[in-house]
Amino acid sequence: MLSVPWQTMAIAVALLQLYFLTEAESSPTEVDRIIRLPGQPQVGFQQYSGYVTVDDKKQRALFYYFAEAEVDPASKPLVLWLNGGPGCSSLGVGAFSENGPFRPSGEVLVRNQYSWNREANMLYLESPIGVGFSYATDTSSYGAVNDKITARDNLVFLQKWFERFPLYRNRSLFITGESYAGHYVPQLAELMLQFNKEKLFNLKGIAMGNPVLEFATDLNSRAEFFWSHGLISDSTYKLFTSVCNYSRYVNEYYRGNVSPICSRVMSQVSRETSKFVDKYDVTLDVCISSVFSQSKYLSPQQVAETIDVCVEDETVNYLNRRDVQIALHARLVGVRRWAVCSNILDYELLDLEIPTISIVGKLVEAGIPVLVYSGDQDSVIPLIGSRKLVHGLADELGLKTSVPYRVWFEGQQVGGWTQVYGNILSFATIRGASHEAPFSQPERSLVLFKSFLQGRPLPEVF
Ligand SMILES: *[C@@H]1O[C@H](CO)[C@@H](O)[C@H](O)[C@H]1NC(C)=O
Ligand SMILES: *[C@@H]1O[C@H](CO)[C@@H](O)[C@H](O)[C@H]1NC(C)=O
Repeated sequence: MLSVPWQTMAIAVALLQLYFLTEAESSPTEVDRIIRLPGQPQVGFQQYSGYVTVDDKKQRALFYYFAEAEVDPASKPLVLWLNGGPGCSSLGVGAFSENGPFRPSGEVLVRNQYSWNREANMLYLESPIGVGFSYATDTSSYGAVNDKITARDNLVFLQKWFERFPLYRNRSLFITGESYAGHYVPQLAELMLQFNKEKLFNLKGIAMGNPVLEFATDLNSRAEFFWSHGLISDSTYKLFTSVCNYSRYVNEYYRGNVSPICSRVMSQVSRETSKFVDKYDVTLDVCISSVFSQSKYLSPQQVAETIDVCVEDETVNYLNRRDVQIALHARLVGVRRWAVCSNILDYELLDLEIPTISIVGKLVEAGIPVLVYSGDQDSVIPLIGSRKLVHGLADELGLKTSVPYRVWFEGQQVGGWTQVYGNILSFATIRGASHEAPFSQPERSLVLFKSFLQGRPLPEVF
């Protein structure tokens, strides 16, 4: 122990306090600092949230929530997290249900023991405009949002966010997300590389969970997943892979032009799979699916009405509390309530058909490490399609296998399977995980996240 005379110590403490006080008052980030979220347990890390406008007229504003790392934030990377939909909230789904520090439970927030802010400074962005607390004052903007606009707004957001948080400007940056973020993440990373002649971003890697990377491959792997998990019969599988496959059905559906034959096949598929099975995790009970409707566009329902067996949605209740919104510096603009997935955004759904796996290829060629991971119980974007796409990309880029397909461990149990190509392109499954992997397998997801940040293969032994 260091021994210091108490007077000297007192002076040192006083000086330190003075330093922090002036520092705090002069900081523009102080406005966004969250003093305390209602019902929140005592924690040792800082949280911030607020708006960043992304146009010159200040009519479009994106809402963020930032949880600094639990311990020693200055030594930890910055990670941006994006949920998909398109139109679902990274705050409500990502932060409060998947990998953030708290989960709402009745009137209070409980700690998530496996929060990703144990390993990184986590930035959750409600994107694009019209999602969650993010808004446009000119509501006609909601009808013109597509992948291009989303990527550009996200880029402007980050540039301006760094002005508010200059300490993070040159921090190692990772972009992560899930589902439709298989579009957002690579498209944003590609824009960053174009801007990076000016060294604006210190991008160190991207990770995507159950991502849409190539429409037809991803959607058509659903048939095999259903069939191999016993959700459809042999004969229905045959119809679903020959007469009308899922990519054809969705293609027709988005164009308002479903053919009688596809309609018949889909009715049969729906009847057998039943709406009482959660398509985002075929082993979970159905209640969860009404909470997480994040890919509602990815699985358009034939039967319009769905039975909501969940009487309460903790996150919706919590984020609609006035005291919570005040603590978060959030406003409701143009909507009466905060929603998990936007009701006002009219996203260009045909953008779903844009392949982003080729952008992922460009990123790998530019030296950006990529991880594609799959919750292996998800039938919406099943592991089968993601594994095929990653393998195909490795072949195309001439990347040799650097870690052969093998199991990885969390604790003494198998956390999933992994394969790495050329030490830069990785695929991994998370065993027993849903579409929202960190929600249903938080411990395994945290192990995966940590390995990804460290650029190390997943644990081979225990
Ligand atoms: C940012 O950090 C990287 C190392 O991660 C370093 O090479 C680069 O020079 C830094 N850039 C600036 C502008 O400080
Ligand atoms: C799906 O159907 C479309 C249109 O009939 C066809 O072009 C495509 O090859 C099919 N894909 C698979 C994987 O069967």
